[in-house]
Amino acid sequence: MKLATMTAHRGRILHCLRDPGEAGDLDAIDYFDDGVLLVDDGHIAAAGPSASLLPGLSESVKIIDHEGALLVPGFIDCHVHYPQVDVIASYGHQLLDWLNNYTYTEEARFAKEAVAQSAAGFFLDQLLCNGTTTAMVFATVHPHSVDAIFTAARQKNMRLAAGKVMMDRNCPVELQDTPQSAYVESRELLQRWHGQDRLHYAITPRFAPTSSDAQLSLAGHLAAEFPDVHVHTHLAENRDEVAWVAKLFPDSRSYVDVYKRAGLVRERAVFAHGLYLDDQDCVELASAGSSIAFCPGSNLFLGSGLFDLDRARESRIRVGLGTDIGGGTSFSLLRTMSEAYKALHLNEQSLPAVRGLFLATLGAAQALHMENSIGNFDIGKEADFLVLDGAPTALLERRIGRTQSISEELFAQMILGDDRSIAKTYLMGALAYSKEPVPP
Ligand code: GUN
Ligand code: ZN
Repeated sequence: MKLATMTAHRGRILHCLRDPGEAGDLDAIDYFDDGVLLVDDGHIAAAGPSASLLPGLSESVKIIDHEGALLVPGFIDCHVHYPQVDVIASYGHQLLDWLNNYTYTEEARFAKEAVAQSAAGFFLDQLLCNGTTTAMVFATVHPHSVDAIFTAARQKNMRLAAGKVMMDRNCPVELQDTPQSAYVESRELLQRWHGQDRLHYAITPRFAPTSSDAQLSLAGHLAAEFPDVHVHTHLAENRDEVAWVAKLFPDSRSYVDVYKRAGLVRERAVFAHGLYLDDQDCVELASAGSSIAFCPGSNLFLGSGLFDLDRARESRIRVGLGTDIGGGTSFSLLRTMSEAYKALHLNEQSLPAVRGLFLATLGAAQALHMENSIGNFDIGKEADFLVLDGAPTALLERRIGRTQSISEELFAQMILGDDRSIAKTYLMGALAYSKEPVPP
């Protein structure tokens, strides 16, 4: 006999059907003021108005009434470093000095397995209390750092992509691998973890300056052997970095070309930042089906620059938001949307709230090529979703009280919200985090 596994979550339901664009096209979203999200065995069975869905439900279906709270798909962080939790808020440097002065030293601590295990647990708890249900994650150069994050994610049933950092030059010796060891260790990890439950492997050369030609080309070789794994790296984040890459790779036309020659510009390749690209780079990224993780919090904190979202959209490059912890300073994708709004404003662009939601949900799922599984409430997708608190602070309660539309309310959450706005986080229909204690 099949056990009753169906649950109806009643509340205000909001999700994106496609990219609302710069104009924030409201036809691109579905919103039900009194709605039901029907979850069957961890997957979406329906999302629609409660007046049409509730009457047809059998009595065995459990109904959870969220009392008018807003339910949205789980947030997806397209670029984040789990070993950099303790690097957040390190003072005063741009990228290259920040790496040398803080980041590499911290990542060297991950040589100890226990350090990696304890950081992995803390990190995933931070994701969940910030409403992040899927992430594309950098580990460190140590293979056990990948085992630690995958083991912890698997226990929580999170969808997560991660990989061992590959770097064989221009960084401290204790953090260096070799082209061969990086290839062999990445391949072993990939075979151990890729496709287990909700886990994906990502081939992860740190960035062009810390990999030799030989290492990049072996990374590309591995990518060719396993077309369905991700590639995850940094691209054109900082002016000094870009100048350094031009010196290190004099035969390449551009930074993108360095990765292209190695066979790393392809589908399922996620490039963090991409601030300094030319038109040809954009065409190449788009035609390859590669993606950019837009990390505005990090771009502002590290003084890296301003991302051109309009050009990425015109070029049809897949874009999702990333926090880039610890270059970024907040795990919250609501905060990250707020940073994106401000960074885009400085570039004479804008970010309507529904587009912010898109970049953290369906757009991010598309950027990770996971849109068949997650990103919105289409029937059959995995039921990762959030219950937002409409009054997480006195200020938000007051400000939301004066809003007159779902766009205005969402914009208030996006500009003023953070982890306090996340009341509950569900993974495949199961409660994974609750701000308030759950009665037994
Ligand atoms: N480029 C190379 N490594 C890093 C890193 O750890 N963080 C950021 N933001 N950029 C990088
Ligand atoms: Zn990064």
